Amino acid sequence: MNAVEIEEAVTELAELPFDGERFPYQFLEAFGNKEATIKRLRAGATNRSDIGGVLQTNNIHIAVASSGDVSATLARLKASPATTKAKAKFVLATDGTMLEAEDLDSGETISCDYADFPNHFGFFLPLAGITTVKQVRDSAFDIRATSRLNRLYLQLLKDNPEWGAAERRHDMNHFMARLIFCFFAEHTGIFNDAGLFTNTVDQMSAKDSSNTHDVIETLFRAMNTKPTERIAEALPRWAVAFPYVNGGLFSGLPNVPLFSRIARSYFLSIGALPWTKINPDIFGSMIQAVADAEERESLGMHYTSVPNILKVLDPLLLDDLRSQLKEAEANSRKLFNLRNRMARIRVFDPACGSGNFLVIAYKEMRAIEAEIDQRRGEPGRASAIPLTNFRGIELRDFAAEIARLALIIAEFQCDVLYRGKQLALAEFLPLDAQNWITRGNALSLDWLTICPPTGTGVRLRADDLFSTPLDQAQIDFENEGGETYICGNPPYQGTRGQSDAVKSDIGRVFSSRTDKWKILDYVAAWFMKAAEYATATESAAAFVATTSICQGEQVAVLWPLLFEAGQKLAFAHTAFHWANLARGNAGVTVVILGISSQSRTRRLIRSAADGSVSEMQVPNISPYLVPGSDMVVAARSVSIAGLPPMARGNSPTDGGHLLLDSNDIEALGLTAEQEREFLRPFVGGQALIDGNPRFCLWIDDKAADHAAQIPSIRDRIDRVRRFRLESKKASTVKAARWPHRFDERKPLSETPLICVPITTSQSRAYLPAGLVPGGTVVSNNAFTLPGRVLWPLALILSRLNLAWVAAVCVRKRMDYRYTNRLAWNALPVPPLTGKMKEDMKRSAELILMTRETYFPATLADLYSPRGLPRDLQAAHDANDEVVERLYIGRRFKNDSERLEHLLGLYSKMIVRKSGGESGKMAAER
Ligand SMILES: C[S@@+](CC[C@H](N)C(=O)[O-])C[C@H]1O[C@@H](n2cnc3c(N)ncnc32)[C@H](O)[C@@H]1O
Repeated sequence: MNAVEIEEAVTELAELPFDGERFPYQFLEAFGNKEATIKRLRAGATNRSDIGGVLQTNNIHIAVASSGDVSATLARLKASPATTKAKAKFVLATDGTMLEAEDLDSGETISCDYADFPNHFGFFLPLAGITTVKQVRDSAFDIRATSRLNRLYLQLLKDNPEWGAAERRHDMNHFMARLIFCFFAEHTGIFNDAGLFTNTVDQMSAKDSSNTHDVIETLFRAMNTKPTERIAEALPRWAVAFPYVNGGLFSGLPNVPLFSRIARSYFLSIGALPWTKINPDIFGSMIQAVADAEERESLGMHYTSVPNILKVLDPLLLDDLRSQLKEAEANSRKLFNLRNRMARIRVFDPACGSGNFLVIAYKEMRAIEAEIDQRRGEPGRASAIPLTNFRGIELRDFAAEIARLALIIAEFQCDVLYRGKQLALAEFLPLDAQNWITRGNALSLDWLTICPPTGTGVRLRADDLFSTPLDQAQIDFENEGGETYICGNPPYQGTRGQSDAVKSDIGRVFSSRTDKWKILDYVAAWFMKAAEYATATESAAAFVATTSICQGEQVAVLWPLLFEAGQKLAFAHTAFHWANLARGNAGVTVVILGISSQSRTRRLIRSAADGSVSEMQVPNISPYLVPGSDMVVAARSVSIAGLPPMARGNSPTDGGHLLLDSNDIEALGLTAEQEREFLRPFVGGQALIDGNPRFCLWIDDKAADHAAQIPSIRDRIDRVRRFRLESKKASTVKAARWPHRFDERKPLSETPLICVPITTSQSRAYLPAGLVPGGTVVSNNAFTLPGRVLWPLALILSRLNLAWVAAVCVRKRMDYRYTNRLAWNALPVPPLTGKMKEDMKRSAELILMTRETYFPATLADLYSPRGLPRDLQAAHDANDEVVERLYIGRRFKNDSERLEHLLGLYSKMIVRKSGGESGKMAAER
């Protein structure tokens, strides 16, 4: 269960009549305990309570108190030996009127009316295994509001099924945005009287809900009627108290769906929430999920946290503004200049969702401006930072609505904070009627029209902003000129599973620039658009991105195009884990990349696993995110250094029917001679690491008829044929013609093979490559080299090689994906003499022999993240000594030095290969 779902469940529980007998179980259920767990507790099998309550080990001890005895019961729970023995984290006592609880780790307590305990749901979240509790607690209001609005949204769709259809979706979204505005406005003084909106609906609509929609429609009409037109509009007296709001939000038809009794009661309960506590950045991200059937399940729990947003915005623009502020000290003129500079800054998020990056950028800039006003002795001065300088493009209708609303709320909150409520209220209404969040596809829109470089665009005051045709979306920036900062967290989407629409978006941006665009992730297109935009106007951009655009084959496709457009990496936050609160979502590994044609400083930023951040200023950042040149490494079909060819193993495509474990072999019932003829050891990358070899049927074409006479083998061959015939791939169907053998197979080597697994964990200090005996079939999840010459193994097993693989190969989750085209064929190696090869052979042999002494330990055991056995480590050190001396005559100091050197050598070798023509970009694109 995610936090929103728990809030919903807890709220529902508090609304039920209190049942002391059932309460402990209902409570545990609300926090995600499964039915079977509850059953066992009820039956007493797992209930460890010694005072007649319910005690769940490692979790909570609950007791229902007799009336008025809650505090004493809580004390008994705390003192109970069973509580300590079962390592309970919480104790909770209630009599159905009061509820008290204590977090036994932190000593924090709550004491509240029973009906109010859902307000403290964040307190209990560790019970549901939600550990990012602080983040959730900080946004407790946003979670509650999202949960309630979600219930209302679903109920309204139930009451008005036609509003769920595509044609009415915009109406529904717009209606919800209006409601949210009204709830906020009635709690913050914008509607003069506290609770005016909810109270009016409560009083003027019938309890049976039959005219609720009429009442709300009338109120919306009032908010769309200018003071001068009110008499003509003949508004009822109870609606006249509502101010003119419009700003596009209330223009057009009032459009309100019908309310059932339940919907009306949900509506009233939402109005009772403390809306002043809204965080427009977090709330926006959560609430947008409500309108999206696919996302509704996660209810915005994947929202981007403020610290993560700042990882983009700080190095992009805020650090610079803050350092200018610091440097200005109390110098009035410098402060004034900074104030003016900020008034002309535009922030543009071309995948803005609900506008969280824009909201945070706005709030942070307002904070700096407020500090300037303080230092200049002008506290409370009107802000010069125009909200409309914070632009966005968003594909989804509701998110775009919410983005604009979130910015409006942020502006109001900043005005209250820095100028006082009175001034904030005086200038808030009517809302500005300009459209600065464009709904549309960022990859088909011209960013220069959305965010024009000069003030010559069409000034548009739309009547219904969100229906405004896109080609008219241009409006002037206030305080024109200035700098533009493009930022955001665009969709990533690797090549797998890209929809046709996504593919055509990528093609639209890249196909005129490169014919290799099909290997690019979706996010790459945002970088290209930003680079293109920067050729027309001064700008810098930073996006959160997938690590894969800085690894593997994408590098050589994307980065030269960005460099050609005049862009360089201004900063890079190297790979880090981007966790979120969505259920079943372990988060993703991302990088943050800032590009610019202007930047003088280049910052390489790293987040360690413990959250600490370190930073280096470097002369240049390579697209592999290390200090280095703009060199890119291209995939090659032959080794740049003349190394022996490395081939991929054999691909069975057999539905598992040609592969055998020892039971399968027994079941085949072959004679010893038949086994010798048709069975071979079979090793894949993982099996090599885990020391878990299997066998396979390996039947020569010439012996196919003979093999098919053996019924057990024939049966397997038939299954392979059927499996291949059922495939959707034409090449696999074709392979049904040779069902006795692997789909793709290489000649079997009778001599040993060097075997390199394709996938290997990043936690290992070396690649777990090894030697397999002659006659072994290696699967297609490993690469092979003839093992007759052993010296190449010294290179493969070196630390230097791992540094290379880590940089140029793709990483998938916590694994490297080795490829011969990049890792081996592009590996730069200095010319090797016979003596050098002999030294390398010996050091590789020493590693293999040292491994042998640990038999039957597997490579997984020997190369565990905890470290290698001491003598094996010594053998690797000796090997590294031999290999690294080839490059620089000594050991490298660290992996960064290794990689810098390798990239430099690669660059020289490429230049030499291409006849010395232009060094930098000659990498075979
Ligand atoms: C990963 S979300 C980021 C949103 C927000 N900044 C956040 O952190 O939650 C990406 C957003 O891009 C939007 N999007 C996807 N494709 C788009 C496109 N082609 N043009 C504009 N927006 C797009 C999605 O609807 C989504 O809101």
